[in-house]
Amino acid sequence: MLRVAQAALFLTAVSRGADYVGSEACKTCHAPIWNQFFRNPHYKSIASGKETPENTGCESCHGPGQAHVAARGGKATIVAFSEIGSEKTLDACLRCHSQTLSRANIRRSVHTQEDVVCSSCHSIHNSKAPKFLLAKKQTDLCYTCHASVKAQFSMPFKHRVNEGVVECTDCHNPHGASAASWRMASLPRMVDQKEANEEPCLKCHADKRGPFVYEHASVRIDGCETCHVPHGSTNAKMLKRPTVFTVCLECHNGAGTFGRSAAGVDHQSSTHNMADPRFQNCTTCHARIHGSNADFFFFR
Ligand code: HEC
Ligand code: HEC
Ligand code: HEC
Ligand code: HEC
Ligand code: HEC
Ligand code: HEC
Ligand code: HEC
Ligand code: HEC
Ligand code: HEC
Ligand code: HEC
Repeated sequence: MLRVAQAALFLTAVSRGADYVGSEACKTCHAPIWNQFFRNPHYKSIASGKETPENTGCESCHGPGQAHVAARGGKATIVAFSEIGSEKTLDACLRCHSQTLSRANIRRSVHTQEDVVCSSCHSIHNSKAPKFLLAKKQTDLCYTCHASVKAQFSMPFKHRVNEGVVECTDCHNPHGASAASWRMASLPRMVDQKEANEEPCLKCHADKRGPFVYEHASVRIDGCETCHVPHGSTNAKMLKRPTVFTVCLECHNGAGTFGRSAAGVDHQSSTHNMADPRFQNCTTCHARIHGSNADFFFFR
């Protein structure tokens, strides 16, 4: 019953369009918040003096304040984020932020679907991070809910996320992947793109991009994750298996040999003697494994 009554009041408060009182009116009763607010990027709308009342200051998020002030407070007379639930929170923020964030497909993102919305990650009034009003420092924020990922970044070989060299958002967009995102269908994990159809990896590892005269099809078509686990690995090159040949043999596993070729070379016996440990380290010979401009077999 209570909830219904509150919802009704909430709607009344919002629909009475003209009852804006301005941010000054909030000062006396909410001094701690008010006194910090000049640091907030949302303060600009007050300072500019150019915005309409519904886009200015406290009331731009909390809705018109007259009824609330008249009642001398109360959660039901104002947009109280502690009451309105995730969907309405999302709507309140997207009223202004949909332009940049809709590109990110925020409504279809896994976070939104799981009820992880703006206020789960951003804290308007109590941000503990230097940028973007994050509730906590980015890594700590993400680890709050992704404990298993923390373990991955503690593997012997990893991107140094915990040390601050690389951030989660260098590879992910927590607001969702772009509509045209790279291989959205096969790799939906909110993995961000640098430019259309490129993996985020190439921002920092541009030399792996090519184009090469001799492409390794798996790099170009299947992508970096076919062989690498970017969070962390026991392999020094962050391969998804401890040894390199076990990665290669996932694909080069022609019956009886590991490397079926057009030429029909028998690897088991001649070129590739797998009993000889030398041959197990495939990249000592196939050194340009991401592609080569000089050699069909990626020797150089
Ligand atoms: C950009 C949107 C936004 C603006 C602008 C804004 N708030 Fe908030 N406010 C929130 C959100 C979201 C919460 C819920 C708690 C949180 O996420 O920080 C909140 C919470 C509150 C609370 C509850 C106490 C608390 O700390 O949780 C009060 C009171 C409040 N705001 C008052 C104000 C006042 C006063 C102003 C103007 C000086 C203001 N707000 C401006 C979004 C906003
Ligand atoms: C006369 C004092 C008074 C004034 C003026 C006032 N408030 Fe409040 N406000 C309160 C009190 C008291 C509460 C606590 C209600 C409760 O906890 O049940 C409250 C609660 C709130 C909440 C809900 C906090 C929550 O728990 O989510 C928000 C948001 C809020 N006020 C925003 C504002 C804004 C914005 C203004 C200016 C337009 C404003 N208040 C002006 C007294 C005031
Ligand atoms: C899962 C956590 C998470 C959620 C949910 C989330 N954000 Fe963010 N947001 C972040 C992080 C992390 C950054 C910083 C990105 C960076 O460092 O590049 C950020 C940055 C931003 C920025 C500044 C940079 C930009 O892209 O414009 C805005 C604005 C923003 N978020 C708004 C929102 C709004 C509005 C919502 C809800 C509709 C939301 N965020 C939901 C984590 C989140
Ligand atoms: C009335 C419009 C409006 C509403 C509603 C609004 N914002 Fe903003 N927001 C802005 C503006 C304007 C900026 C400043 C942009 C700039 O400085 O480039 C901003 C900046 C931000 C930033 C970036 C901070 C930074 O350090 O760069 C974040 C994060 C953000 N808003 C989150 C939110 C969240 C979460 C909500 C909902 C609780 C919300 N906003 C609601 C207009 C709004
Ligand atoms: C160097 C790039 C990179 C960085 C940095 C990175 N990720 Fe990832 N992450 C990926 C890729 C690529 C995938 C998809 C792997 C796949 O599906 O094969 C992924 C998958 C995920 C997944 C879904 C699969 C799973 O393991 O549960 C989560 C959750 C995740 N990352 C969270 C994080 C968090 C949290 C951080 C920061 C602490 C982070 N990632 C940093 C590249 C990165
Ligand atoms: C409030 C909890 C919460 C926070 C904070 C949070 N996440 Fe998530 N995240 C989830 C939930 C719940 C899911 C869906 C279930 C799952 O895959 O674990 C998810 C899923 C993901 C996925 C996988 C998406 C997919 O397609 O499967 C990635 C990647 C991810 N989060 C990255 C991040 C990053 C990066 C941050 C920090 C900026 C972050 N998350 C912060 C709760 C959170
Ligand atoms: C923001 C820049 C950045 C992005 C994005 C990035 N990396 Fe890295 N990568 C690095 C840095 C820096 C190192 C060096 C190790 C370290 O200091 O963390 C590294 C190391 C590596 C290594 C091991 C190299 C070695 O010799 O130790 C591999 C493999 C790798 N990255 C693959 C990837 C893949 C795959 C992706 C995309 C999913 C990716 N990286 C995205 C910066 C990045
Ligand atoms: C077919 C498997 C495969 C794919 C796909 C692949 N790699 Fe690699 N990568 C390797 C192997 C094997 C090594 C180790 C080479 C060695 O031992 O010298 C390596 C090493 C690396 C290194 C560290 C050594 C160096 O050359 O700098 C980086 C960085 C790297 N890869 C990035 C990437 C990126 C980015 C992508 C996606 C564009 C990618 N890899 C796709 C197999 C692959
Ligand atoms: C995801 C599957 C996959 C993985 C893993 C993979 N490859 Fe390939 N590789 C291919 C495909 C597909 C071709 C192209 C074959 C063709 O066009 O007939 C290729 C081509 C090659 C070629 C060029 C000769 C040729 O037949 O085109 C060499 C050499 C090669 N791979 C070595 C390796 C090595 C060494 C590894 C391990 C580091 C590896 N590959 C991992 C799929 C893979
Ligand atoms: C000692 C050097 C050497 C090592 C180590 C080596 N190769 Fe080769 N590989 C060659 C040579 C030489 C060729 C050229 C064609 C031939 O004679 O088969 C070749 C050709 C290939 C081809 C393309 C021809 C075909 O049959 O498809 C593939 C695929 C291949 N190697 C995969 C691997 C894998 C996987 C490993 C690791 C298990 C590996 N190689 C280790 C020397 C090496």
